Amino acid sequence: MTRGAPTALVTGAASGLGAATVVTLADLGWAVTAVVHETAPPADLPAEVVPTDLADPGAIAELVAGLAEDPRVLVHSAARFHRAPLGRETSTRLQQDLAVNVLAAGHLVGHLLARPAPALRRVVLIGSAGAFHGATGLTAYAATKTAVAGQAVALARELGPRGITVNLVDPGPLDTPLAEVRTAAWRADAARAPWPVPAAPPARVAALIAFLAGDGAANTTGAVLGADGGLLASATP
Ligand SMILES: NC(=O)c1ccc[n+]([C@@H]2O[C@H](COP(=O)([O-])OP(=O)(O)OC[C@H]3O[C@@H](n4cnc5c(N)ncnc54)[C@H](OP(=O)(O)O)[C@@H]3O)[C@@H](O)[C@H]2O)c1
Repeated sequence: MTRGAPTALVTGAASGLGAATVVTLADLGWAVTAVVHETAPPADLPAEVVPTDLADPGAIAELVAGLAEDPRVLVHSAARFHRAPLGRETSTRLQQDLAVNVLAAGHLVGHLLARPAPALRRVVLIGSAGAFHGATGLTAYAATKTAVAGQAVALARELGPRGITVNLVDPGPLDTPLAEVRTAAWRADAARAPWPVPAAPPARVAALIAFLAGDGAANTTGAVLGADGGLLASATP
C-alpha cells in the first residue's frame, strides 16, 4: 500500500467490476483494500487483500476493526444472486442475497463511522440497469437491487450533513462472472433493442466509479448514474 495515498475500501474485489475498480483506483494513485470472499483474486491485484464473508455482520465488524487506515472511499460492488422461477424464490437465499447486496453496505458504513477518526467522504453503491430489464427468473436479485437504490438515496440524506456523498451506479451488461445470470428472455429483449448493447468491459464502469470517488464529484450525491451502454435508452419506445 502506498503511504500517504488516499485510501479506498472495495468489496467484491476478486473479480469483475470490483477488481476493475481496484485496478482503476490504484492506477490513479489510491491505496486500496480489496475485500474478497471465496474467489481468489488475481495474483497481481494492486491492493491489500482481506477475505471477508459480507453476509456475516460479525465478520464485517472484524474487517473494519482490522483496517490499518481509515478509508476515504467505500465502493460496495459485492453481490450475490439466485435464479428461480417466479414464486420459487426461497426466503433463506433471498435473506443471504439481501445481507450481501444491501445490508453489508450499511454495516460497513456504520462501523467505519464508529472509528475514532473516520475519514469516509465517498460511498459508491452498485445497482443494476439489467435488474429492471429482462430479469426473468431474477425477481429476488431485482428486489435486492431496488433496495440498493432506496438505500443509496436514504444514505445520501443521512450522511450529507457529515460531508459524505453517496451515489448509485447502475451498470448494464458487463463482461464478468456474474454475466451468467443473463436469461434467454434478456437476450431476446436485447436482440429487439434498436441497437445492440453488448456486454461491456467492467473498466468502463470502474472509470465512473473512480470519478465519483474523487474530489471532482464533491457536488454529486443521492444520484443514480446509469452506465448501461444504452440498455435503458434502447428500451424506450
Ligand atoms: N455483470 C453484470 O452484467 C452486471 C450488471 C449490472 C450490475 N452488476 C453489479 O455489478 C456488481 C459487480 O458484479 P460483477 O459483474 O463484477 O460480478 P462478480 O465478478 O461475480 O462480482 C461479485 C463479487 O461479489 C462477491 N461476493 C458474493 N458473495 C459475497 C459474500 N458473501 N461476501 C463477500 N463477497 C461476496 C463475489 O465473491 P465470491 O465469488 O468469492 O463469492 C464476487 O467477487 C454487482 O453489484 C452486480 O450486481 C453486474
